[in-house]
Amino acid sequence: MARKPGNKGSGGGQAGGNGGGKGGGKVSDARHKAVRVKTARGRKSSSTRWLQRQLNDPYVLEAKRLGYRGRAAFKLKEIDEKYDVLPRAGTVVDLGCAPGGWVQIARERLGKEPDGRERGRVVGIDLLACDPVPGAVLIEGDFTDDDAPAWLRAELDGPVDVVLSDMAANTTGHAPTDHLRTQALAELAYAFAEEVLKPGGNFVSKVFAGGTEKGLLDQLKRDFEKVAHFKPPASRKESPEMYVVAIGFRGGGEG
Ligand SMILES: C[S@@+](CC[C@H](N)C(=O)[O-])C[C@H]1O[C@@H](n2cnc3c(N)ncnc32)[C@H](O)[C@@H]1O
Repeated sequence: MARKPGNKGSGGGQAGGNGGGKGGGKVSDARHKAVRVKTARGRKSSSTRWLQRQLNDPYVLEAKRLGYRGRAAFKLKEIDEKYDVLPRAGTVVDLGCAPGGWVQIARERLGKEPDGRERGRVVGIDLLACDPVPGAVLIEGDFTDDDAPAWLRAELDGPVDVVLSDMAANTTGHAPTDHLRTQALAELAYAFAEEVLKPGGNFVSKVFAGGTEKGLLDQLKRDFEKVAHFKPPASRKESPEMYVVAIGFRGGGEG
């Protein structure tokens, strides 16, 4: 993955997870003994709690087993299992793609051509560098930059089938501020999606507890055949995040 402008990567690196597409890797709590972490000298108790949670989190363990880059991969897998949002061919844009779990799931769904080449295209962007995923173009850059839509469009091959956004602003601890910031990212993501989606396309975005802000929700209801909110089981109960899933774009992006 390269820095923008001109910083992007594709191909090479480790292939996507080997979960084998839909339904692969159901996650259960029962398969391992709980690990206890002692507080090391110098380690804050919050870090110890984080480490203990990671070591005992069945999604983290399953992600590792299946070669996914993080437990977030299962959120998209679960969204797709419920709403069938990902295409079998075509183009997926992933906003806030690092470390690449959703890219892996989207790539798995697109699969390969009979000659072994990756079918379709995944284009992602993130503030953070993301290791390459074969068949994906991953841009290191800020999606809020005025030029970001142009960076993405330069990698697209016309209108796209799905726009995903898992972008999350850094949390401040002040819930209303965090909500507003994530909401702003969701609105920006849709402003882009509206421009590039093809008729019948889908849009998925992280939103915070309380759901999508009314203005955006009203717009999505006008622009799509079906709009739903969903908190996938892989999303931690204590996290305020959930996802708005909009299916069947009624407009027609110009790409
Ligand atoms: C929850 S993580 C995404 C995880 C990803 N879906 C996966 O499966 O690996 C949220 C990401 O949003 C990115 N992000 C937040 N604000 C952004 C922005 N303005 N432009 C690009 N990426 C952004 C963060 O850097 C972070 O990597």
